[in-house]
Amino acid sequence: AAPCDLYASGGTPCVAAHATTRALFDSFIGSLYQLKRGSDNATLNIAPLSAGGVANAAAQDSFCNGTTCLITIIYDQTGRGNHLTQAPPGGAAQGPEAKGLDSLAAGGGAPVTLNGRKAYGVFIPPGTGYRNDATNGIAVGDAAEGIYAVLDGTHYNDQCCFDYGNAETNAQDTGNGHMETIYFGTAGGSGAGSGPWVMADLENGLFSGQNRNSNPGDKTISSRFITAIVKGQPNNWAIKAGNAQSGTLTTMWSGPRPTDGYNPMKKEGAILLGVGGDNSNWAQGTFYEGAMTSGFPTDAVENAVQANIIGAGYATTSLVSGPAMSVGSIVSLRATTACCSNRYIAHSGSTISTQAVSSSDSIATRQSASWLVVSALSATAASTPGTYYLSNVRPVRYYIVPSTSGAGKYHLTPLKARDGRMKRVIQPTKSQAVRRAALRSQLALLLQGDSISDGPQTLGSTSEEPGGDQWVDEMPT
Ligand code: AHR
Repeated sequence: AAPCDLYASGGTPCVAAHATTRALFDSFIGSLYQLKRGSDNATLNIAPLSAGGVANAAAQDSFCNGTTCLITIIYDQTGRGNHLTQAPPGGAAQGPEAKGLDSLAAGGGAPVTLNGRKAYGVFIPPGTGYRNDATNGIAVGDAAEGIYAVLDGTHYNDQCCFDYGNAETNAQDTGNGHMETIYFGTAGGSGAGSGPWVMADLENGLFSGQNRNSNPGDKTISSRFITAIVKGQPNNWAIKAGNAQSGTLTTMWSGPRPTDGYNPMKKEGAILLGVGGDNSNWAQGTFYEGAMTSGFPTDAVENAVQANIIGAGYATTSLVSGPAMSVGSIVSLRATTACCSNRYIAHSGSTISTQAVSSSDSIATRQSASWLVVSALSATAASTPGTYYLSNVRPVRYYIVPSTSGAGKYHLTPLKARDGRMKRVIQPTKSQAVRRAALRSQLALLLQGDSISDGPQTLGSTSEEPGGDQWVDEMPT
């Protein structure tokens, strides 16, 4: 059974269930999350491939092909409407987006496979967060609840606060005991070793045990995928964690509440992901799935949830998603965050920055934001298979190779010694100086992203320059 079926069978039903990777009920076939793409602001809901199944990542790949996508909504699977959307500004921090909203996560930021099927998690850099301040059925006051999440155990920092769980409804720090969330990272309190640790954000404190001191029972996390649990009931709460790919859960803390304002708790029932209760938004992490329950789940149910997560078969996959970058093609790199999606990585001389560039700007401006894809661009690249070269098809072939005198510098090399065929070719029709000058100008154009006369060059293709020179793009043999 899926996690929320297990929680229900234990009498502690899910009142919020969020996952971009899979259904958390065996019967769930509705929308898991919504994407918005950059090219036209169109939106698309992603559902499981089948009831209870893995998300339809192929639909995302198709929808986002050639553009960028943001995760705009993480839907609640319980039917209570506890969806997560872009977090608002709070008492501690404004987000980087318009009106102080936090950023949204990029759709392709956290690719994984579940039993071999591709899916995407929610990759949260600093400044990114989701929230729902008007929820239905989430614990308030001292009421009991359970929270679990599957996270990336290698993506964290020492800032406040990569949280998932119960928080204030006004994004302000309203005092001790007003939050009860999973926290993951190395901020605040600590456990054994150097971290990261699963802790609890109970407001004005990240707790690894009963107080803000170190709790040696809270072990450092070392697995790539982790199951994290925080649960609380009157004057009792627990932290548990385990490897989400194998093994059992470890109880990191189980015992009474902290004393200074945390007993009884004053939970408010908002839900947040990736930020602190007052929108402290300097933390980072990756969320794959999670749920919140009504009632204090039993260890037996949580063990069954852990077994189900293991059975889901989370595994890493290539970080490369979307269209492949092909050596020799010319690309521009655009920012995806909503504040800045008109900005591209550009250079002014040797200085790199992001600049607002559009198709109506001058060629020089557009060239400054265009980049040639090369591979193995290093001092040894000239002899590295896969390196991209331009060569003149005229008899004496000059190759453009990276210079050993400094990164970003090139020189022209006849490469006769490498290529016996060079010795048998006919006389050049133009002087060496003319050919060298032409090569230099073509290199300059390529480095600035000009598509020469017939678009990006591909290995083996030829093109005729206006001046009559013919060029072939090839690997030296
Ligand atoms: O408890 C840690 C953090 O402190 C909370 O998330 C935030 O609201 C406050 O700044």
